[in-house]
Amino acid sequence: MDESPELVSLRNGTKVTIRPMVAGDGPALLSFFRGLPEEDRQFLRDDVTRPEVVERFVAKLDDDSVIPLVAEHEGRLVGDGTLHRTRHGWAVHVAALRVVVDREFQRSGLGTALAHQLVRRAVGLGLDKLVAEVVDNQIGARRAFEKLGFHQEATLKGHVKDIHGAKHDLVIMANDVSHIWERMEALVADYSPTAGD
Ligand SMILES: CC(C)(COP(=O)(O)OP(=O)(O)OC[C@H]1O[C@@H](n2cnc3c(N)ncnc32)[C@H](O)[C@@H]1OP(=O)(O)O)[C@@H](O)C(=O)NCCC(=O)NCCS
Repeated sequence: MDESPELVSLRNGTKVTIRPMVAGDGPALLSFFRGLPEEDRQFLRDDVTRPEVVERFVAKLDDDSVIPLVAEHEGRLVGDGTLHRTRHGWAVHVAALRVVVDREFQRSGLGTALAHQLVRRAVGLGLDKLVAEVVDNQIGARRAFEKLGFHQEATLKGHVKDIHGAKHDLVIMANDVSHIWERMEALVADYSPTAGD
């Protein structure tokens, strides 16, 4: 599988490198997560502002059930995207996709570019189905996944507690990889990979 970094031009012309996460990314990853507004991190599964949580992510780099990518701009991390799969059992064909983008870089195609790379890796691994878990009021995230061809497949009522203790429904969005790939091709005009520049 192609693990080389990809230089992408975002919609506003900014260039960002998307590459696999490496062991030395810990401190930059922690600053990235700590720089997210509460609104953007309140529904992330883990409390990513805690150093031990981020250290755990970096320590898992040799675990082939997680494929972590980062987006880098001028030496700082501005995006994070991961593919999570189970290696045994009845859901070996399924992976979960998670994407977070720095506020300053949102709405310029970076979330789509990270998702694009993860889908490419999922296809390479022979996975059939991708899911994304979004909390009911994360309208932007829902819209972003819908644009990639995901549909709402299930709702788990009151499944998530935000950092203030309020419960929310968790929406499971899903799509099969081949279908997503067709949508990706259509969206490719939103950003242009310039690998090798
Ligand atoms: C979801 C997220 C990763 C999208 O990243 P992004 O870089 O803004 O995504 P893109 O620029 O590729 O946007 C793709 C499409 O999603 C939709 N979208 C993204 N943010 C939106 C918002 N705030 N409101 C409405 N639609 C939105 C738009 O349709 C957009 O296309 P357009 O700009 O051409 O209209 C980003 O909003 C984020 O980090 N949110 C917080 C973390 C999160 O909720 N992650 C999802 C759970 S895994």
